[in-house]
Amino acid sequence: MTSSVTEKTGVLLGGSGLIGGTLLYYFKTQAEGRINVLAPNSKKLSLRDPDDIRRYFEKTKPAFIINCAIAAIDSDPQLAYEINYQGTLYLAKAAQELGIPYIHLSSAAVMPNGQNLAEDNRLPLRPDLPNYTKAKLMAELSLEHLHKVGGLDYTIIRLGIVYGAHDHKIQGFHRLFFAIVDRSMPVLFTKQGAMHSYSNARKLPYFISQVLENRAEFSGQTYNFVDKNPVSLSALILTIKSYLELKTPREIYLPFPLAQFGLGIMARLVRLITRLGIEARMPAELMFLKNFYETQTLSAAKLRRSSFRDPDPEATIFTELPALIEYYVTRWEHLNLIEPFNKEFFDPRRRAEEFLHTPAQLLQEIHEESDQPFLKQCPLGSAGQERA
Ligand SMILES: NC(=O)c1ccc[n+]([C@@H]2O[C@H](COP(=O)([O-])OP(=O)(O)OC[C@H]3O[C@@H](n4cnc5c(N)ncnc54)[C@H](OP(=O)(O)O)[C@@H]3O)[C@@H](O)[C@H]2O)c1
Repeated sequence: MTSSVTEKTGVLLGGSGLIGGTLLYYFKTQAEGRINVLAPNSKKLSLRDPDDIRRYFEKTKPAFIINCAIAAIDSDPQLAYEINYQGTLYLAKAAQELGIPYIHLSSAAVMPNGQNLAEDNRLPLRPDLPNYTKAKLMAELSLEHLHKVGGLDYTIIRLGIVYGAHDHKIQGFHRLFFAIVDRSMPVLFTKQGAMHSYSNARKLPYFISQVLENRAEFSGQTYNFVDKNPVSLSALILTIKSYLELKTPREIYLPFPLAQFGLGIMARLVRLITRLGIEARMPAELMFLKNFYETQTLSAAKLRRSSFRDPDPEATIFTELPALIEYYVTRWEHLNLIEPFNKEFFDPRRRAEEFLHTPAQLLQEIHEESDQPFLKQCPLGSAGQERA
């Protein structure tokens, strides 16, 4: 087994997504030269197309594969199967034949409800599981199988509820957060005491670097990559509400049967609206509504016993909230997705305001600056720059 795979170039799938994008940004800024990745998008390399995968890997001969790609969470059985399961299998086979490590991102969705669940707690494979869960579960089982029968060098990293900036699709926790900011959550869609495990996207690249650099320790293993302490969903929602100084959601716990009933009515309304030619969709996350009412917490003991050192042990969803609120509220305001909280948005040169009110003056100013160099202003090598 290779002791240091990170001096060569690997391939990252799903680089335009929340997790893949965070990894890509880290490798580009913090680990350049040590961990290099190619990140083909799904047009260049679709996990649905085995020939795409063969061509790409035969040409690039990478040193490792990291798979962060998934079909939309509410995809039909065919897409969920082809992208989340079959695509995983193709990548794993490619890794096996090239003799390189395969790093697989998985989800707590494959685990049952319960507290302090260790990595070996998995749901039984049943036909009635949601498509996403079934495909992710089958992927984990097949990776284990390929390890046993063919010596596949893999690591599965299971995430809880992910928080972090740059979720441009507004999914998972960020969808819930959006509902609070958008004031579309009148009461609490959870019950008192429901607890969950959260994963900090910002810390994940550090773990993946460790996993790549220490194959002997991490090969053939599954890790729950979650913050040490579980979080009460209602406490989190109420903390966000208080940061934003909102009146809603009110501290009323809507019982699950009522929430389910309300959802049924909403779904019918949405169907009616779409018949009028107006595009409307229920958030995909609502298919997991029951999970808001159940406790599922993952044990981080195996992660803590590993050689991985948390780069920021004090950071939790609560400590990151102010930065996340600032990032997402500003972004959603810019995209006109929410009513402005703060009209004085960050624009040190006030150019957005000039663009709005005095475009001719702005054009003249920019033309006057046209002799200024462009490339020389680029902060090449300044690793810590925030991305847009
Ligand atoms: N976000 C969470 O809360 C969460 C929680 C638990 C586990 N996870 C796991 O973390 C991983 C990453 O999730 P994410 O939230 O970052 O996903 P995401 O933001 O939805 O990104 C999905 C990525 O998959 C790519 N993709 C879709 N179809 C593809 C295809 N046919 N071929 C190749 N690439 C394709 C997309 O690329 P294009 O844009 O090019 O189509 C996109 O880059 C997944 O394994 C997921 O199960 C996430």
